[in-house]
Amino acid sequence: MKKVAIFLVAFSWLAMTAVAWADGGGEATFKSQCGSCHMKGGAAAPVNPGDKAARVWVKYFKRQRHPVELEVSEGDMDSILEYLEEYAADSDQPQMLAIPK
Ligand code: HEC
Repeated sequence: MKKVAIFLVAFSWLAMTAVAWADGGGEATFKSQCGSCHMKGGAAAPVNPGDKAARVWVKYFKRQRHPVELEVSEGDMDSILEYLEEYAADSDQPQMLAIPK
């Protein structure tokens, strides 16, 4: 029984760490992949998750509305989209200044 408890504690710790890592990963990927152009004084104006509602972000990239072709891997794009949705304008915690204006 004790072993099961230890296993459960270890497992939930691992699961939480994985979630935390995924979060940080999304923001870091957004900043490096999108922020390279979208920054103050850069090729394009700063963008932030709080600029659009979650479903607008998804549509924007699904329908390839972005005016410039992006060289972002599918995996990176997935984690960026996850991050954009989590902090979108209609989320509980819209984020406006990940890339300062
Ligand atoms: C190679 C440079 C470059 C990269 C990388 C890039 N963009 Fe852009 N993006 C542009 C340019 C140029 C425009 C059009 C000019 C503008 O709107 O400032 C644009 C426009 C946009 C717009 C429309 C602007 C608006 O106000 O609606 C959004 C949204 C956007 N980009 C999001 C992103 C996201 C998210 C990423 C990362 C996945 C990204 N971009 C990566 C260059 C880039």
